[in-house]
Amino acid sequence: MAQFRLPKNSVVQKGQAHPRATGAKRTKSFKIYRYDPDSGKNPRYDTFELDLDQTGPMVLDALIKIKAEQDSSLTFRRSCREGICGSCSMNIDGRNGLACTTAIEDVKGQVKITPLPHMDVIKDLVPDFTHFYAQYASVRPWLQTVSPAPAGKERLQSPAERAKLDGLYECILCACCSTSCPSYWWNGDKFLGPAILLQAYRWLADSRDEMTGERLDALEDPFRLYRCHTIMNCANVCPKGLNPAKAIAEVKKMEAERVL
Ligand code: SF4
Ligand code: SF4
Ligand code: FES
Repeated sequence: MAQFRLPKNSVVQKGQAHPRATGAKRTKSFKIYRYDPDSGKNPRYDTFELDLDQTGPMVLDALIKIKAEQDSSLTFRRSCREGICGSCSMNIDGRNGLACTTAIEDVKGQVKITPLPHMDVIKDLVPDFTHFYAQYASVRPWLQTVSPAPAGKERLQSPAERAKLDGLYECILCACCSTSCPSYWWNGDKFLGPAILLQAYRWLADSRDEMTGERLDALEDPFRLYRCHTIMNCANVCPKGLNPAKAIAEVKKMEAERVL
């Protein structure tokens, strides 16, 4: 797994060690990346010891407890704590995942937590998603039609047509896949990456959408689509069990069949 992105001309320094809870029988150490651009200081790693008998089971529970009881300046995103909103994506023990669905007991030894790799960091564990969201907007992720809407009813799909969206609509845009993808690390300015290409295919696969040709035209580019080399990191890491590489292969197939 590649490193998180350091601010220019900086090194990671040893930070503060927070002592273990007194009287605790089961403890766990958390080594957490800290970076505050307003401080003008280098990034650092702080370590925190938690009493597992007083902490919830998930890595997000540990982060919330540390913030509440040991260091209120610790900064991370979270919302649903149910694996639905995608906010708490980070790198835990060398693997991208959701803090709220990663059990503390599944990490052997010290739990090392860093921001998602290869994204600029706003503060601590919060990456800058500006570029990722701009790429998402570029695939026009909404239903586009030219025919008039049927009077008095919705645009209908058969159960078989609806089933084609399974494995696609569940994506929560956490970016765990894109930030695990070597092609995205090196060409993320132009390659759309697995998350956004899965979203692009979600609309290509929708029987109600009437902009298939325009969508394929927009993706037909040596970088936007074809930088995927089927390395499969994306499918291995997706916390929702989705397979962006398969979706990308489907888009490539649609492009090829269109040319023939
Ligand atoms: S299969 Fe494609 S998109 Fe997925 S990690 Fe590999 S290169 Fe990236
Ligand atoms: S495909 Fe999976 S890993 Fe990628 S953004 Fe969607 S939910 Fe996250
Ligand atoms: S807090 Fe929503 S996915 Fe983790």
